[in-house]
Amino acid sequence: MNAPTMPPQDHAAIVAPKLSVAPMMDWTDRHCRAFHRVLAPGALLYTEMVHANAVLQGDRERLLGYDAPEHPVALQLGGSEPERLAAAARIGQDYGYDEVNLNVGCPSDRVQAGRFGACLMKEPALVAECIAAMRAAVSIPVTVKCRLGVDELEDYAHFAGFIDTVAATGCDTFIVHARKAWLDGLSPKENREIPPLRHEWAYRLKRERPQLTISLNGGIADLEAIATHLTQVDAVMLGRAAYHDPYLLHRADAQLAGTQVRPREELLRALRPYVEAALARGVALKHITRHVLGLYAGQPGGRQFRQILSEGAHRPGADWSLVERALAATGAPLTAAA
Ligand SMILES: Cc1cc2nc3c(=O)[nH]c(=O)nc-3n(C[C@H](O)[C@H](O)[C@H](O)COP(=O)(O)O)c2cc1C
Repeated sequence: MNAPTMPPQDHAAIVAPKLSVAPMMDWTDRHCRAFHRVLAPGALLYTEMVHANAVLQGDRERLLGYDAPEHPVALQLGGSEPERLAAAARIGQDYGYDEVNLNVGCPSDRVQAGRFGACLMKEPALVAECIAAMRAAVSIPVTVKCRLGVDELEDYAHFAGFIDTVAATGCDTFIVHARKAWLDGLSPKENREIPPLRHEWAYRLKRERPQLTISLNGGIADLEAIATHLTQVDAVMLGRAAYHDPYLLHRADAQLAGTQVRPREELLRALRPYVEAALARGVALKHITRHVLGLYAGQPGGRQFRQILSEGAHRPGADWSLVERALAATGAPLTAAA
């Protein structure tokens, strides 16, 4: 897909969804998003984080390319230089993205060396400058994904002050990964597990600043939790749970839309046209099927489903028939089309 062929989006028509799937590096690539879109027609999807410099200097089609059905889809940017972020946001808008999001939550060493991600929680004025520049460059929403704090900065007043400073630019949507990050000593993975979750800080933020749109992220793993959080905040963002248990994402979307839950095999088969089009472009099956391995987690035949796909999808010539073989192992009924 090339940018100029993208239909212009009617941004005003996009209602902020109550459900989104988190940006996850190496995971939420375009193939993953195509699958998630089938599972959750109503969810907002996020790209992996792309650094503003990569957008400006890198292979744009590889970094930003996506398929029209992914809408609504948000581009997550990393960086801390206002002009570069603004230019990258503009390119994202020209590509047809529905939102641009700034990453103020990633704690990896690489990110800290570049002075972006979670360490920006310490620099609210700089974040505000970045957001102001991005907002001036685009007409699509510019949002922020942040933590509660970093290192010793773990008090609600500092967190709320950070939000207020950024909100003063006119930014009104914040995705709160509701734990702080330790910049020293914890790996990114540990930083998603060890600092305690404080969902109540996001609740309080919403109570005290009802004009802001607050999406809660972090440790949300079942339908009951989603329903409970949505009584306190505007939206929920699912990360690992949506990736590892894609059927949860589907059930969450159906619950919110009030639609019927569809069988797993029907959802997977709905991806067939996407898969076949990608194979025809030369994409290897493994790049797509790696994202569907959890679809039958905990179900009869789930282990064989995973195994057949993991072992077969990297073989040259692997095609849709492998997916049907994996489905057969789960006892899924064959369809005429299969
Ligand atoms: C593999 C992986 C990659 C991630 N990459 C990003 C990223 O690029 N940008 C970002 O803001 N957060 C990233 N995160 C954090 C998630 O967006 C999310 O905030 C975190 O996993 C907590 O949500 P969860 O408990 O629902 O998974 C990543 C998480 C994982 C597991």
